[in-house]
Amino acid sequence: MGRETRNRVPRHVAVIMDGNGRWAKRRAMPRHAGHRAGVKSARRTVEACGRSGVEVLTLFAFSSENWKRPPSEVGALMRLFLEGLEREVDDLHRNGVRVRFIGDRACLAAELVSRMEDAERLTAANEGLVLVIAVAYGGRWDILQATRSLADEVAAGRLEAAAISEADFASRLQLHGLPDPDLLIRTGGETRISNFLLWNLAYTECYFTPCLWPDFDEREFAAALSSFAGAERRYGLTPDQIETPGLAGA
Ligand code: FPP
Repeated sequence: MGRETRNRVPRHVAVIMDGNGRWAKRRAMPRHAGHRAGVKSARRTVEACGRSGVEVLTLFAFSSENWKRPPSEVGALMRLFLEGLEREVDDLHRNGVRVRFIGDRACLAAELVSRMEDAERLTAANEGLVLVIAVAYGGRWDILQATRSLADEVAAGRLEAAAISEADFASRLQLHGLPDPDLLIRTGGETRISNFLLWNLAYTECYFTPCLWPDFDEREFAAALSSFAGAERRYGLTPDQIETPGLAGA
């Protein structure tokens, strides 16, 4: 197990794409120019994941908290998502990418939701990279909606509260059916999770880099992957148990 836990490619990479605004400010450009450059960086990262054998890429595009930004910036971001979807979806489909969205769709404009659903339908049978885009997503919201769904089951008499398992809970979270992220990358220099996938990140390796998101390129991605490859994941076991699997549970 010791060797298997090293030198591996993460199956699932999650990314908090931070630093678009600062990138633009340094160039005396408006914030939306930073977001536009951020879309290019997202595209580069999708391609890099495809090349490196990553199976799932989850991008945090818009958080529950981002609604508090100035309305003009929120509007610009929503337009960017819509245009980006219209422009990129055919190319993603040609490359075998399966697109899935997570987040509270009830908060989004009907036109955007309808394009999101079109993209999910079009790419549903693809077998390449799974690209998960988190829009209007918050980790606490995700946990709350799973809890409400379980509470409904209990109230209807279909489930015993005492019998609720981690698997029951996980099956009601937005990332259901996908492996938990192995690697979380956050650009932009902050070292916080910022209400991202709170449940799913329990054992995830975190990689924080000062690189601003629009500058995140293949070299930066390779550095994150090699940091992950060198990390030993112990899942609560001791180093001896990792080296000698027979000791686990002994
Ligand atoms: C953070 O930069 C980024 C966002 C709020 C999300 C927007 C992300 C993109 C437009 C990238 C494209 C992604 C997809 C999948 C369409 P920030 O504004 O917080 O930067 P700052 O911390 O420097 O102000």
